Amino acid sequence: MDADVSKELMDAGRGYEDLFVPALFAPWTGPVADAAGLKPGDQVLDLACGTGVLARNALPRVGNSGRVVGVDPGPGMLAIAAQIEPGVEWLAGTAEALPVDDAAFDAVISQFGMMFFDRVASAGEMFRVLKPGGRLAVAVWNSVAANPAYVDITALLEELVSPAAAEALRVPYSLGNPDDVTGPLAGAGFSDITVNTMSDSARFPSARVLVEADLRGWLPLFDIVLTDAEIETVLGAADERLAGFVEASGEAVFPTSAHIVAARKP
Ligand SMILES: C[S@@+](CC[C@H](N)C(=O)[O-])C[C@H]1O[C@@H](n2cnc3c(N)ncnc32)[C@H](O)[C@@H]1O
Repeated sequence: MDADVSKELMDAGRGYEDLFVPALFAPWTGPVADAAGLKPGDQVLDLACGTGVLARNALPRVGNSGRVVGVDPGPGMLAIAAQIEPGVEWLAGTAEALPVDDAAFDAVISQFGMMFFDRVASAGEMFRVLKPGGRLAVAVWNSVAANPAYVDITALLEELVSPAAAEALRVPYSLGNPDDVTGPLAGAGFSDITVNTMSDSARFPSARVLVEADLRGWLPLFDIVLTDAEIETVLGAADERLAGFVEASGEAVFPTSAHIVAARKP
């Protein structure tokens, strides 16, 4: 697979895995896998798997008699996932048209992808691919207000870049109201739907590293490409604006909050 993927996409996947996964995403894998009740022998689908951190948590839980499949549309993400863990089956695909059979899985797990999906179509697909009695666990970020570093970063972008740049950074936090997740799940036929709102913290090497990654790695996905001078202006202001999150070591540490939504296919 790697031979077909451009260096830019591989670098972006590697950057995501090295910076964002340990800081923001790895802490949620245990709670999500727990919420899905993964057990030996389970057939598990990790939807929007990215570089595969959740699938890697699931793999030892299901053991040799189980199977883990990861689906994501990002070729760079999948290439890095496959380099790290060849024991998972990595598939290119989207949540709205999953490239797997009906009733194939005991559990579908997914973290921090649903805000990018068509929620009604993806709920229908997750329902379709689960066996009767199959379990679902989905994590989504709480609102921007519950993830306060992003209150400051989006305010900075609003002031120094554009409202569109601030809006792009709010997208991951757009499912703060869990009804926006539970509604489509209920509509698709899921039962026993529960929401567990949990807190954690994220640790980045510095405020600058965090904000620069957002500016260079996230905004371009929305066709917002800043000049080096514009980036320097925002980073200069970010040091001061995020000072409240910076420890004596220089690391930026801030609270995070997410909803873990669990459900069952009757
Ligand atoms: C924030 S990342 C989370 C990745 C991974 N679950 C983790 O915890 O590191 C969001 C992922 O959603 C994927 N994604 C975006 N739109 C999608 C869609 N329509 N269907 C499936 N995955 C999608 C992206 O490619 C990206 O890998």
